[in-house]
Amino acid sequence: MNIVVVISGNGSNLQAIIDAQQAGQLKSNISGVVSNRPNAFGLERAQKAGIPTSIVDHTDFSDRESFEQSYIEAIDAYQPDWVILAGFMRILTPLFVRHYKGRMLNIHPSLLPKYPGLHTHQSAIDAGDSEHGASIHFVTEELDDGPAFLQGVVPILENDTAESLAQRVHQIEHIIYPEAIRWCEEGRLQWQETHCTLDNQIVEHPHIMTLD
Ligand code: GAR
Repeated sequence: MNIVVVISGNGSNLQAIIDAQQAGQLKSNISGVVSNRPNAFGLERAQKAGIPTSIVDHTDFSDRESFEQSYIEAIDAYQPDWVILAGFMRILTPLFVRHYKGRMLNIHPSLLPKYPGLHTHQSAIDAGDSEHGASIHFVTEELDDGPAFLQGVVPILENDTAESLAQRVHQIEHIIYPEAIRWCEEGRLQWQETHCTLDNQIVEHPHIMTLD
């Protein structure tokens, strides 16, 4: 199975996927990494692991659709079975979403449906939540809205700042994303137009993982 990982920045989730693959916990071939930012550190991580990379810089395009058309070409050159968005910070149009329907996953740093969009860690602290985390979902045409099938939950501690909480969320992200990809590899996970199934059962509530 080929996966293409799509990034915009640091790429710590990409690193977790690379590490899982190198440790023999994932069978997928990471056939390429595509970034919209030329200086994304994740590109260096990929190159260090011998994974081909492409850059399609969104600032070179006058409109979102022509950028996405080029982005799709860059991704498809690596013949993905699954497209893994790992910190890809662009709002997607239906053109992009439909092209990869049912085979594109995203990780979002909140317990969806809570806190779509940005500043999720501060929002969870400000709301007085006792728990926060990250969600893996199929990408649909709504922002951060595909139903989550897997969530990593972490506690919010009394003195947490957005930064300290983000670090804890990253720890759980690095566990749940390789796990979700394993489910894809094993053919356990499927998208059925409006919902997803795991082992042929409709996912009514996301599967939960914690740090312990
Ligand atoms: C991750 O926390 C991911 O959940 C978030 O960006 C970060 C990327 O970190 N994604 C989103 O906010 C998407 N809406 P990384 O580059 O170190 O993997």
